[in-house]
Amino acid sequence: MTDSRLQDFLVECRERVTAALEDLLPEPEIQPEPLHRAMRYAVLGGGKYIRPALTYGAGLAIGLAPQTLNAPACALELIHAYSLIHDDLPAMDDDDLRRGRPTCHKVFGEAMAILAGDALQALAFQLLAADNAVPGGAEARLAMSDTLARACGSRGMAGGQALDLSAAASGWKIDLVALENIHIHKTGALIRAGVRMATLARPELDPKSARRLDRYAKCLGLAFQIRDDILDEEGETTVIGKTQGKDRAQGKATYPALLGLTEAREKARILINEALTNLEDFDERADPLRWIAHYIVDRDR
Ligand code: IPE
Ligand code: IPE
Ligand code: MG
Ligand code: MG
Ligand code: MG
Repeated sequence: MTDSRLQDFLVECRERVTAALEDLLPEPEIQPEPLHRAMRYAVLGGGKYIRPALTYGAGLAIGLAPQTLNAPACALELIHAYSLIHDDLPAMDDDDLRRGRPTCHKVFGEAMAILAGDALQALAFQLLAADNAVPGGAEARLAMSDTLARACGSRGMAGGQALDLSAAASGWKIDLVALENIHIHKTGALIRAGVRMATLARPELDPKSARRLDRYAKCLGLAFQIRDDILDEEGETTVIGKTQGKDRAQGKATYPALLGLTEAREKARILINEALTNLEDFDERADPLRWIAHYIVDRDR
């Protein structure tokens, strides 16, 4: 039952965000064509769009209509798409398959893929600077830009990616504290920013509720990457749409590598329970956030 309501919610979010992104992204026939085609390929290529769903879901939990949050939802997905293009490059994870299709650099070449990532990042901030539908006006959009910039920068996603690569290159088995630090930065930071941007659109929100939502998102972000690590280990390439077993082959620092699969699953489950505890004071309008939390540890792709 919850499952079909979750599916309906995710479909609705996906349709809303992809329609807005379709409008926003330059048409593929506009010059420079290969760059615009690469950008569209990476953004509209069959992702789960879970980050926009979190922004919309957090908005609903605090009484904001989803259509008012298209700018932060799209901006976040643009940053995410850029991070995946670069993550797949030969200099990073060197992956050929994403979402069941060749990676961006396999189709458009490395140079165009790098540029597509650069341009998507710029477009995310251009969107936040300009959108008038966001409640809270220019001040809220400025705060969202600050949040998103920090989340994708050297103290956020990019920093986490740097730590991830250094850990794999060193060959040392890192400890749990260092591993958690990698994951909360490379993946958790953007997920947390998605929820925080929704709360910034309601400046009058009581600080306690904002703090609770932030804690929810922090737990969720780490659990999301733990599940990703587990799927790399035990998923199927045809289902996950990525080459299974790459983390182990590349000596990546992951939860299954450090704790084993059973303990990694347990850790994700504990985090989800903690995430849900932080929603206890919210009414049924926070249900989409609750469904997403369960989905994140149960998903098979
Ligand atoms: C994959 O993210 C990269 C991680 C941060 C684990 P998703 O699993 O959200 O990727 P898509 O967008 O749905 O393909
Ligand atoms: C990626 O983590 C995190 C990013 C910031 C993109 P992974 O390298 O595990 O993501 P996948 O498995 O390639 O999607
Ligand atoms: Mg990676
Ligand atoms: Mg990767
Ligand atoms: Mg992975």
